[in-house]
Amino acid sequence: MGSLYNRAEIYDLFDNEKRYEAYKKHWEAIFAGKDIKSMLDVSIGSGSVTLPVIDLGVKLSGSDLSEEMLKNCGAKASKKGADVTLKWSDFRGLDCWGDEKFDLVASTGNSLAYVSNDDVAKTLEEMDKHVKVGGYLYFDSRNWEKILKDHQRFYTYDPMFVGETRVNLVQLWDYNDDGSMVFNLLYTFERDNHAVQKEIFEEHYNPFPKALAIDKLKAMGYEDIELKCFPAQFEMPSFEKVEWYSVVAKK
Ligand SMILES: C[S@@+](CC[C@H](N)C(=O)[O-])C[C@H]1O[C@@H](n2cnc3c(N)ncnc32)[C@H](O)[C@@H]1O
Repeated sequence: MGSLYNRAEIYDLFDNEKRYEAYKKHWEAIFAGKDIKSMLDVSIGSGSVTLPVIDLGVKLSGSDLSEEMLKNCGAKASKKGADVTLKWSDFRGLDCWGDEKFDLVASTGNSLAYVSNDDVAKTLEEMDKHVKVGGYLYFDSRNWEKILKDHQRFYTYDPMFVGETRVNLVQLWDYNDDGSMVFNLLYTFERDNHAVQKEIFEEHYNPFPKALAIDKLKAMGYEDIELKCFPAQFEMPSFEKVEWYSVVAKK
């Protein structure tokens, strides 16, 4: 079973104006009180979450492991008339960015859990190399502690409409004995009450506790560590209840 990121056109079916505006508000909430003029996203994917920062006057750069996702990101940036520097890179080694430094270095879209817990710490070190002194490191993540506690198996979405086609997405979550997880994504496409297409993808994750990342940030000397909801314009409930959170910390 393949990864969704080899089929960026399906990933991007979720793109719409409402989500774009919601992500813009997210970044406004994250940037509040900070002077952010340049940003690097090391898991930029197709840019769904990050491209709205361009409207906030930020010079955006990005890298990702998926050529397909990067291709879509470049196309979306060009459509906006924006100049976004994009590179292919695993975020566990960010040498492709040389000694460039940014006001904010981010890993967006719950991407850190794609690598082992040890590699989450290594990735934060790699990201740190590209944060200016006085700049910020950001990541967002599903609340893996809540997921492991709740043991929810099915995760459903509201249907989307693409022209005459209704697109349904259901996720089935597997909890493996070694602590890793597989999210099975089942897309069905319906037209005139017929299922005309079915696509199944598998995403493999390594849940990590929030403390692993926060402790690493502290050990690297980060301060003013802010814990917010994702998207950040919404009020943060207690950590036990939040599904997805954002962390931004000052170097
Ligand atoms: C859920 S998508 C998020 C994409 C984008 N940030 C967004 O929010 O729409 C996860 C992304 O992480 C990328 N990814 C997974 N493992 C990676 C790694 N080791 N290094 C860099 N990118 C990685 C995938 O290719 C994919 O684009």
